[in-house]
Amino acid sequence: MTEQSPVTQAAAAKITLPDAQDVTEVRHYTDRLFSFRTTRPPSLRFRSGEFVMIGLMGDPDPKTGKRKPLMRAYSIASPSWDDELEFYSIKVSDGPLTSRLQHIRPGDQIILRPKPVGTLVHDALLPGKRLWLFATGTGFAPFASLLRDPETYENFEQVIVTHTCRDVAELTYSQETIEKIRSDELFAELIGEEGLAKLTYYPTTTREESPKMGRITELVKSGEVFRDLGLPEGMSPGTDRAMVCGSMGLNLDLKEILEDYGLREGANSEPAEYVVEKAFVG
Ligand code: A2P
Repeated sequence: MTEQSPVTQAAAAKITLPDAQDVTEVRHYTDRLFSFRTTRPPSLRFRSGEFVMIGLMGDPDPKTGKRKPLMRAYSIASPSWDDELEFYSIKVSDGPLTSRLQHIRPGDQIILRPKPVGTLVHDALLPGKRLWLFATGTGFAPFASLLRDPETYENFEQVIVTHTCRDVAELTYSQETIEKIRSDELFAELIGEEGLAKLTYYPTTTREESPKMGRITELVKSGEVFRDLGLPEGMSPGTDRAMVCGSMGLNLDLKEILEDYGLREGANSEPAEYVVEKAFVG
């Protein structure tokens, strides 16, 4: 808005929350999943794969009448170069935040604390040849960021992203994100044709018939994923790097599998061969 532009009643009436950002787009995929985009604070710098705290104002306290912000950790699903921010969320009908967040519309405001943190970042991994990104459910969000970051393709010869969901419709967000990357000319220019060929998407479902069924943990343990992708069976600390984001069960099971292959867990302060983060739930 310029200084000369008249202040409309609607604009004047809008309550500006502390750390408020405007919602610019909302997309619903299933009755359990949706994504939304917001404006980005000009000062917010983050590394692809990190998360921030976002939320809404809670209901007034019955005793004091005061409203407190209701905040949860959300991975940023957009890459660090994007002008806007994107988030991918579950809807939990009795979840304190998501029961309300699922109703946001363009023009609404959310609270965003601009302090990004997280371990699913390139800095926490040692250089390697092949990057595995293992996601279940909304755990795909940080990978939607990393997969749209040119650094991912500069650092690795091959990038394999697996996404396991209950049913086919729950794969829509990852499918569309991958399709957009593959068809985006600007992106092709950024990472080159060869780079695009580097990207392998491996979606699986566990509760509905689809071309590839099964939990990714079972598909790795049985060697099926390596056979499907024409790779030598197993992983090696010399070549393979992994990032894991999903439910607690997935994280623990994959940790064990990766450790059995000799990969060690890395951190920002001490990079190694794999990193893990729990996907937001509730
Ligand atoms: P399953 O259907 O066998 O439970 P959710 O929607 O509950 O977050 O789950 C997302 C996906 O993650 C589902 O396909 C689910 O499979 C799968 N999953 C849950 N726990 C694990 C685990 N410990 N290892 C691998 N996949 C898992």
